[in-house]
Amino acid sequence: MAQGQTARDENELEHELAAMLDIERFEPPAEFVKHANLTDPAIYEQADSDWQGWWASQAERLHWFKRWDQVLDDSNPPFYKWFTGGKLNVSYNCLDRHVEAGLGDRVAYHWHGEEGEELDITYADLLDRVQRFANALKDLGIEKGDVVGIYMGMIPEVVVSMLACARIGAIHNVVFGGFSAESVRERMEFSQAKALITVDGAARKGNVAPVKQNVDAVMGDLEHLKHIIVVRSKGTECEMKAGRDVWYHEIVAAAAEVCPPEEMDAEDPLFILYTSGSTAKPKGIVHTTGGYLTGASSTHQNVFDLHADTDTYWCCADVGWITGHTYIVYGPLANATTGIMYEGAPDYPHRGIWWELVERYKATIFYTAPTAIRACIKWGAEHPDRFDLSSLRLLGTVGEPINPKAWLWYHKVIGGERCPIVDTWWQTETGAIMISPLPGITATKPGSATRPLPGVLAEVVDEHEGKPIDQGQGLLVLKRPWPSMLRTLYKEDDRFVQVYFKKFGIDTYFVGDAARRDKDGYFWVIGRVDDVVNVSGHRLSTAEVESAVVACESVAECAVIGQSDELTGQAITAFVTLQGTIDGTPEIEDEIRAGVAERIGKFARPKRIIFADDLPKTRSGKIMRRLLRDIAEGRALGDVTTLRDPSVMAVLEEKIQAEQAAEES
Ligand code: PRX
Repeated sequence: MAQGQTARDENELEHELAAMLDIERFEPPAEFVKHANLTDPAIYEQADSDWQGWWASQAERLHWFKRWDQVLDDSNPPFYKWFTGGKLNVSYNCLDRHVEAGLGDRVAYHWHGEEGEELDITYADLLDRVQRFANALKDLGIEKGDVVGIYMGMIPEVVVSMLACARIGAIHNVVFGGFSAESVRERMEFSQAKALITVDGAARKGNVAPVKQNVDAVMGDLEHLKHIIVVRSKGTECEMKAGRDVWYHEIVAAAAEVCPPEEMDAEDPLFILYTSGSTAKPKGIVHTTGGYLTGASSTHQNVFDLHADTDTYWCCADVGWITGHTYIVYGPLANATTGIMYEGAPDYPHRGIWWELVERYKATIFYTAPTAIRACIKWGAEHPDRFDLSSLRLLGTVGEPINPKAWLWYHKVIGGERCPIVDTWWQTETGAIMISPLPGITATKPGSATRPLPGVLAEVVDEHEGKPIDQGQGLLVLKRPWPSMLRTLYKEDDRFVQVYFKKFGIDTYFVGDAARRDKDGYFWVIGRVDDVVNVSGHRLSTAEVESAVVACESVAECAVIGQSDELTGQAITAFVTLQGTIDGTPEIEDEIRAGVAERIGKFARPKRIIFADDLPKTRSGKIMRRLLRDIAEGRALGDVTTLRDPSVMAVLEEKIQAEQAAEES
């Protein structure tokens, strides 16, 4: 409990929140508006009337070695090019220019380790580390255009590695530390990575998990992968393969101090980030140098109302996801922000650790996912209440819809009713936030991401013809190119056009989300309409999980669906038929979960496994997941007449009812 505060009564809190559910809109708090950067709503109309001019004004915020000749080249849609002819370097924009402006001593990150280790890294420190490591990469023969994989947790070297790649024009391909080594291998193979930067081991709630050792077990024979660079982080034992593996600290010590930044074309790729789509093969989202950095820095500045000289900003995502790329690394550093980087989990060493760190570093801006907020609600307000959160002035959410009750809890318990909440909608593909309040201007409604940012044109359209729906539910689309949009899928141009620009034509970006617009034109994003599941804000493809389940020895066939889950938004349910006469047992469930953990990562393990004798299929043999979703969530079954064998559903229904009855007793 913060000093002078009395313990909060959870029942009373519950009542207060229930009463607040009637409040339809929250105006930007007057005290916040007084100091906000943007307060004039005319910005929306101004940006709309000249959207290319608006984006050009945002690109002006960066340093360009050479200014662009053309803002947008739309001669070959949907392969748009932004700021063509312009030359810049991302690491120069994130580091050198701030140091040259006299900000070398400003802290870039207050890094906090899982066991309480602390390290303040200034902009000057970061520049020094990045230059040395960039030289070390060059010494290994890494060149502009080469792909470099990065697989590690939330340690400072992950940021150094990303920026060092950017400095020399290598394309990084970060894989979230929660993915298995198998997934890393697959992503290195698809992208033909020349090097992989990883760690000896990773901290996980008081334990250290081997990383390099796991990588070694699967990486052996990749033809393109010439180097594995290992950061000595936890002192975990690992074998170093002569001719391939090098220690990070050794190559850095041997490298020269100064590495001039490569002058990159605006359209040169900056990174690839694999994400899940409708098929088992992940999509390599390609982001570029000029457009991406423009989007990242502009939205970070405007959505978070950044006052870089006084704010302490904390985005608690992992760098391995797009949120980490854009709002831990590139946006904040481009804006000379002081940020917090935390290595560990929200409940280790205790359930109040996040709030302890807010108090310790006097965080002013806090950005997290609704899943994390729901976990905090479950743990109880007593944890945040023990700490002084009065430094906070703005809160954000990302990754999934936030239910109004969680929004109100966040507003009241964390934000002390004085902080606006920015619910930010975007995707790996969009590179930066697309729909979100501007906190000094836009009134918020709990559960709505409100309206598109200046310059962005979003619509809700009907599923069949793509006609705009002013009020009501339909599919979310984006109708104009924007600088930080993905340029393609790595080495899969056709798939890029097919997935995003086929449904409603070449000038309409198909998002893959359902959404509703209300009477005020506000957007309420509902969730995915494709076979993508969002578990705790982690994006997974049902096909990817299915192929991991089917790879288990005893499994014959499998269908995976996302089921609503109070805590994680969605959870994975797997319907499984087994080989021959094998019966489903808890041991086989364990085997399936272990198989998924090994092939994808622990976070993809099915929460519920339902063994079935057969799965509902159409006459052409397609599994009807819609029916499986209905049955798993206890809804009345839709049309079953197209099934090859309708009796399959009756058997399944009986099985699920029996399972529920057993649980209840
Ligand atoms: O369904 C939407 C959901 O997350 C998807 C994008 O996932 P990913 O590429 O992993 O990026 C997550 C972080 C940007 C979207 O298609 N989503 C993201 N933000 C929101 C959201 N759903 C509702 N509200 C949001 N604020």
